[in-house]
Parts: sequence; structure tokens; C-alpha cells
Amino acid sequence: MSSTFTPDSKLDLLFSADLISSEVKTQLHQDVHIRPLASTDYHRGHLDVLSVLTVVTDPGEAAWVAQFNAMRSAPNTYYPIVIVDKRSDKIVGVGCVFIERKFLRGLGSVGHIEDIAVDKNQQGKKLGLRIIQALTSISENSGCYKTILNCSDANIPFYDKCGYQKKENEMAKYA
Ligand code: ACO
Repeated sequence: MSSTFTPDSKLDLLFSADLISSEVKTQLHQDVHIRPLASTDYHRGHLDVLSVLTVVTDPGEAAWVAQFNAMRSAPNTYYPIVIVDKRSDKIVGVGCVFIERKFLRGLGSVGHIEDIAVDKNQQGKKLGLRIIQALTSISENSGCYKTILNCSDANIPFYDKCGYQKKENEMAKYA
């Protein structure tokens, strides 16, 4: 795949790019671009950036695209976003918010922020902050009464800087 920057108009995006805050877009450095995940992002290093966060097993392109399509077939639910380095057309930051519908709080919704990662060479340039701002904006514009996430103690200062506060505890049971 070419390393020339691919504009949104030439991509098959998982959701409308209009849902990404224009304020966040203008705050980004001119060398990078924020947009929804695209169906060809398997070739732009999507899994490489995720591997900064945890162990990633490459499922192969066909399975990756099937997962992309499964997310898209649940409308108004999954909002994976990426930050692309325009000079290489490679992904340097990722994150997702998914919207959970509830029966409580007047049939309210909650936004869950998941899988935030920034390429090691690009950390410390406010890309993580912009990803969180963009996802929080999607969550709030979807009508969510709160946006939540789980993180390690080491990442608490980062989320503090993003305007989040520590609340309660996380429980987990791995299969
Ligand atoms: N400890 C203290 N402060 C931090 C930390 C940290 N670990 N990380 C960032 N900050 C501060 C920055 O110094 C900056 O402060 P400033 O505004 O005073 O200058 C502010 O937070 C914003 O930092 P960014 O530059 O936007 O952070 P970055 O782009 O490096 O992204 C991230 C942060 C996502 C945690 C990145 O370091 C990363 O990918 N880490 C590995 C993967 C990871 O842990 N992801 C989060 C998992 S939790 C989840 O997914 C819900």
C-alpha cells in the first residue's frame, strides 16, 4: 500500500467523520490527522499501535475486516478512531468508545473508553489527550450521562490531565 496520505473521501470509514470534534481536529499538529477507523487500516499499522498497549495476535486481514464489519453492523455503538501520520500514512494513535444502552437513568447510555494507545515514538505530544477528548465528545454528543474507563495506577495522572477522576474499583475475571 502507498505511503501517500489517503484523505477521508477515499476511505470506507466505520462511522461519519463529522462526529469527531472539529475543535480537537484544529488542535492537532498539521502532520497528523484524526478520523474514524477505515476498512483498509489493517495495512496502516493499526495492530502495531495496539501492541503498545497489550499482546496482539494478528488474525490476518480477512478476519480483521470481518471484525470491522461486525462493529459497523451495530450502528451507533462502536466508535474506533485513529490518528494518522500524514507523512507516512501510518497510524500512530488509536482509541475507541462504545455506547452501552441502559434501562436505568431514564433509558440512559454510558460511554466506555477502551484500547487507547500511542506509538512509542509519538508519545508526549498530546496525541493521547486529543484521542480522549475526541472520544469523550462522541460519548457526550451521543447523550451519555457518563463516560468511564479502566486503567493502571501508572496511567491515572494521564487521565487526570484529561479531566477524568478516580471512582470506585475495577473487578476482573479472566476466562
Ligand atoms: N504519567 C504522568 N503523566 C502523564 C503520563 C503518565 N504515565 N502519560 C501522559 N501524561 C501527561 C503528559 O505529560 C501530559 O501532561 P501536560 O499536559 O502537563 O504536558 C498529559 O498527560 C497528556 O499527555 P499526552 O502527550 O497526550 O500522552 P500520550 O500521547 O503520550 O498518550 C498514553 C498517553 C495513551 C497513556 C500513552 O503513553 C500510551 O500509549 N501508553 C501505553 C498504552 C497505555 O497504557 N494505554 C492506556 C491504557 S488505558 C485504556 O485503554 C482505557
